[in-house]
Amino acid sequence: MLKEMKSDIYHLMHPKMAFFLTSIAKDGKPNVMACAWATPVSEEPPIVVVCVSKESYTVELIRQTKEFVINIPTKKLLKALWICGKTSGRDTDKFKKAGLKYSKAKSVKSPVIDECIGHIECKLWKAVDAGECYAFFGKVISAYADDKYMKKGLWSQKAEIPLHLGGSRIVYFK
Ligand SMILES: Cc1cc2nc3c(=O)[nH]c(=O)nc-3n(C[C@H](O)[C@H](O)[C@H](O)COP(=O)(O)O)c2cc1C
Repeated sequence: MLKEMKSDIYHLMHPKMAFFLTSIAKDGKPNVMACAWATPVSEEPPIVVVCVSKESYTVELIRQTKEFVINIPTKKLLKALWICGKTSGRDTDKFKKAGLKYSKAKSVKSPVIDECIGHIECKLWKAVDAGECYAFFGKVISAYADDKYMKKGLWSQKAEIPLHLGGSRIVYFK
């Protein structure tokens, strides 16, 4: 029997990789949020899109400084992911709260998270007003991954990347 989805229609498009989205304020203070609504949209040139709520602090920062970094975690960072997904950088230093360390990125000012196994550094190409979110299209400036977790250019099963099912449910890529 087919069940009509009245709300949470987006659950039909999950699971989606859950990752850390880092950004930076004009004064150089970085922020991090959990994010799952994202996808590559072009290979040549490489462009990705991340969808960020208008209520978030991250939206403000990306609109100001026009850049962001996608940081891909493993299962070990699940607790940190929830902390970054449930609190706002407006009033909390989430790196500290979640126990995450960060370093300078290669090509943008937003930082990369040390504990993550993949990073995609982006400069904002276009922002589309999309309902309660902005869809930020980012031109990929630099992308790199820990080869320990890769096999022939693909994530290996040992990466155990968290996949968001919706709500508070996570499954793992195995
Ligand atoms: C697993 C997970 C995935 C999330 N995905 C998104 C997302 O794709 N877009 C979004 O705007 N918020 C998403 N959130 C919620 C934000 O992380 C949350 O609103 C956060 O507090 C925003 O932080 P900020 O105010 O510091 O930017 C997600 C939360 C979790 C736990």
